Amino acid sequence: MKRACVLGILLGVACDNTKAPDHTASGDNLESDADAAQDSGDDAIDDGVTWHKDVSPLLEQNCTGCHNPQGISFDLTSYPETALLAEALVGATESGSMPPWPPSRECRPLLHERTLSEADRQILRDWSARGTPEGDPATAPAPAESEFVPPDEDLTLTLPEPYTPIGATDDYRCFVVDPQLTDTARITGFQVHPDNSAIVHHVLVYTDTEGIAATLDERDEGPGYTCFGGPGFNETSVVGAWAPGSPGYRLPHNTAVSLEAGTALVLQVHYSPAGDPGGSDQSSVSFDLADADEDRQSAFFVPFVDTRLEIPPGAEAHEEGVTFTLDYGINLQFFGGGPHLHRLGSSISVHLRKPDQEEFDCIMEIPRWDFNYQEIYFLKDPVVIEDGDEVSLRCVYDNSDTNPYSTGDYVYWGDATNDEMCLIYALAGLGG
Ligand code: HEC
Repeated sequence: MKRACVLGILLGVACDNTKAPDHTASGDNLESDADAAQDSGDDAIDDGVTWHKDVSPLLEQNCTGCHNPQGISFDLTSYPETALLAEALVGATESGSMPPWPPSRECRPLLHERTLSEADRQILRDWSARGTPEGDPATAPAPAESEFVPPDEDLTLTLPEPYTPIGATDDYRCFVVDPQLTDTARITGFQVHPDNSAIVHHVLVYTDTEGIAATLDERDEGPGYTCFGGPGFNETSVVGAWAPGSPGYRLPHNTAVSLEAGTALVLQVHYSPAGDPGGSDQSSVSFDLADADEDRQSAFFVPFVDTRLEIPPGAEAHEEGVTFTLDYGINLQFFGGGPHLHRLGSSISVHLRKPDQEEFDCIMEIPRWDFNYQEIYFLKDPVVIEDGDEVSLRCVYDNSDTNPYSTGDYVYWGDATNDEMCLIYALAGLGG
């Protein structure tokens, strides 16, 4: 042990590192490693990647917003738990599946992009290859400054009562909550607090100004009513979207979305009870609201849709879409949007063409649609759509045998599990 400690100092790492599995397993090699490292200078030396100094800060920046004790699956804030998963971390970051970031990076820059650099991936590889050394807590860098400010949560709405999902597979349930607004409220941020994160897969919040959801709720036994892909009626817009682990958001570019007095909200929760069969849930959602005297640009979520879908059975890459020309004598600002397809969807994109342009420019694209990661993405710089510009929405579907969700039938627009959509809830404002 003493010898190992000397070697630890030689290698420039703390003594306990040498307790890490692959070091103790090959004590002799370690010595020759150290010699070799000294001979050939810094290049060959183990750069001393440790949990405290390198790995934990990296995970904190990119992963623990989702993988924490209250979050999903495993806890990447814990050294022992993460050390056991080191190879899985390397695999998931190498393949690009983690951290999840569905939008195309070739389109426009988005706010709060989740991304790992090649250097970050190398840290994880080295750490795994070196037997996951823990290192010295004293070497941990100061926490990085984050541009992310969590939402304030002025208004919190909780499911009226606990709900236990039906069956062992997917259950889509809509719950009506009434914020009892007697005045117009202006939403500036959104967050979801899953109560039972083992089973809550995603949450979308819709408006209901006509009391339709309450009627649907009455007709269905138990808390809420069954719904898929939407609240079950068309006179609605989405005011919040959340995928597992999302830290919530503030609306960008000093905008706010109004909720009229009397508006009810419909929380659509997708449950995947396989994670906790029999468990109940009573999640809540929170909104930030603007103060009365706060100067904010008024924005609205407007659905941009192609409802005339006809997706033939067997088609592997069936494309649908619509192009329209803005001709209302106004300009629109496009701040971002929440793309939405169901389970046959494979990609969705929005493009823009100015009258003097040959080609369309990409505004937002999800090149590989994943129903489980639905969020609202905000552009770093809003795009101005001027009167006379063409905007094009494109959706691609896989209705072939290789898609487990294909029923082998024609598929049309609709709310049901086996229907499809082609839709982006655009956050837009006037002018620009
Ligand atoms: C936005 C939330 C989110 C972030 C950020 C995130 N993960 Fe995950 N991660 C998930 C979810 C959700 C799953 C479960 C996937 C499933 O069940 O399909 C998962 C699964 C995993 C798995 C299991 C294997 C796999 O690929 O599904 C690993 C390993 C993993 N994450 C590592 C990481 C690492 C490392 C980071 C940071 C670099 C990270 N995750 C960041 C949400 C996230």
